[in-house]
Amino acid sequence: MRLDVVTIFPEYLEPLNVSLVGKARARGQLNLQVHDLRSWTHDRHNTVDDTPYGGGPGMVMKTEPWGEALDEILADGYEAGVHTPALIVPTPSGRPFTQELAVHLSERPWLIFTPARYEGIDRRVVDEYATRMPVYEVSIGDYVLAGGEAAVLVVTEAVARLLPGVLGNAESHRDDSFAPGAMAGLLEGPVHTKPPVWRSRGIPEVLLSGHHGKIARWRRDEALRRTTANRPDLIERCEPKAFDKKDREM
Ligand code: ADE
Repeated sequence: MRLDVVTIFPEYLEPLNVSLVGKARARGQLNLQVHDLRSWTHDRHNTVDDTPYGGGPGMVMKTEPWGEALDEILADGYEAGVHTPALIVPTPSGRPFTQELAVHLSERPWLIFTPARYEGIDRRVVDEYATRMPVYEVSIGDYVLAGGEAAVLVVTEAVARLLPGVLGNAESHRDDSFAPGAMAGLLEGPVHTKPPVWRSRGIPEVLLSGHHGKIARWRRDEALRRTTANRPDLIERCEPKAFDKKDREM
């Protein structure tokens, strides 16, 4: 998969050299390139922003550097044989970023991220590129960040771990909270490992029983408990047929 990020703070994306995403890059599973938007400016101050039409506080990112940057990156990708790019525009005004959207994006070959600072990017940039490729305006939550870079880190990590061969154990995302499957729509419950006793705290006995059916039942009960406590909205959204008789006895 190819990923391009255009930003005025390339150093903000340095965590993408670490851990899972860093290893996927080193293995060649991810071709991830971070670009400095200011390298597509031509004035002495490398200006990327200007005052908003219509007035109001803050500054708006200018069309020209974004247009030049995106044209050059697109030409480079096409030349390298990558096709069907999608533009990912992080913004608090976007659609919610969900596991479902992460799965969808992980199936695309090429994502180009345009994290903005200030009050955002002149709308004409999105409108222009929307005529050439799918555009996903995404929000990572109902709060306002100082810029879209942290959202790029979030989306990239959520997408990269879904790529074939990136997570060591393909089964590790089977039971993820929000993953489709047996626990569809429920949050994951608690997990435990050695030692068997820590500060007088033991392990739930059922986990030591070796009884797979009982363990599965316990995990489901814990998932239901946690989801009811932390995300009652998710329980309400589940279809009634998602619950069995034992669920209702809880
Ligand atoms: N930029 C600023 N806030 C954001 C958010 N919540 N999601 C995505 N991009 C953002």
